[in-house]
Amino acid sequence: MSDPAIGETLVAREDLQRRIAELGEEISRDYEGRELIMVGVLKGAVLFLADLMRHIEVPCEIDFMAVSSYGSQTDSSGVVRILKDLDAPIEDRDVLIVEDIIDSGLTLQYLMRNLNARRPASLQACALLTKPERLRVDLSPKYVGFEIANRFAIGYGLDHAQKYRNLDFVAALSE
Ligand code: IMP
Ligand code: MG
Repeated sequence: MSDPAIGETLVAREDLQRRIAELGEEISRDYEGRELIMVGVLKGAVLFLADLMRHIEVPCEIDFMAVSSYGSQTDSSGVVRILKDLDAPIEDRDVLIVEDIIDSGLTLQYLMRNLNARRPASLQACALLTKPERLRVDLSPKYVGFEIANRFAIGYGLDHAQKYRNLDFVAALSE
């Protein structure tokens, strides 16, 4: 796709796929003998979840949540609204939240608290990308794909005004 908004590549397709396979192996090892519910956070985590689950070797289910955070286009406020909740209860289940990117960390912090209140057997998070410079809360997801610089990222599920999710690599938005 040739589009001037697609800036420098932050994570190339091969690097994404290699790291996702590694994460899948690590998660499969950690959950050996158990069953997993992977909770994808719509919409950004869809591509990541779809690729990650192909590398999961324990029995797993998937479910989805959609949240929106009140705030400006580029800064979340920490006030999160649930647009779509899980289809099924997670009490006594092993739950893994699958997120596209952690920026301030406020969304994931909210999700961890909200799902923890439902008394799962365990709750962990897997984020494809984090921006360590931007993190505003004390949060350390157990599984992280890549740490990236403080740039607005698009592609591989990440959007700018709902576009560019279909790119198979992660790029910086060039403005
Ligand atoms: P946080 O609550 O500030 O951590 O923001 C998390 C959410 O904001 C992510 O799940 C994304 O949906 C969105 N987001 C944060 N940074 C980016 C980015 O660089 N590109 C696209 N979406 C982003
Ligand atoms: Mg998201």
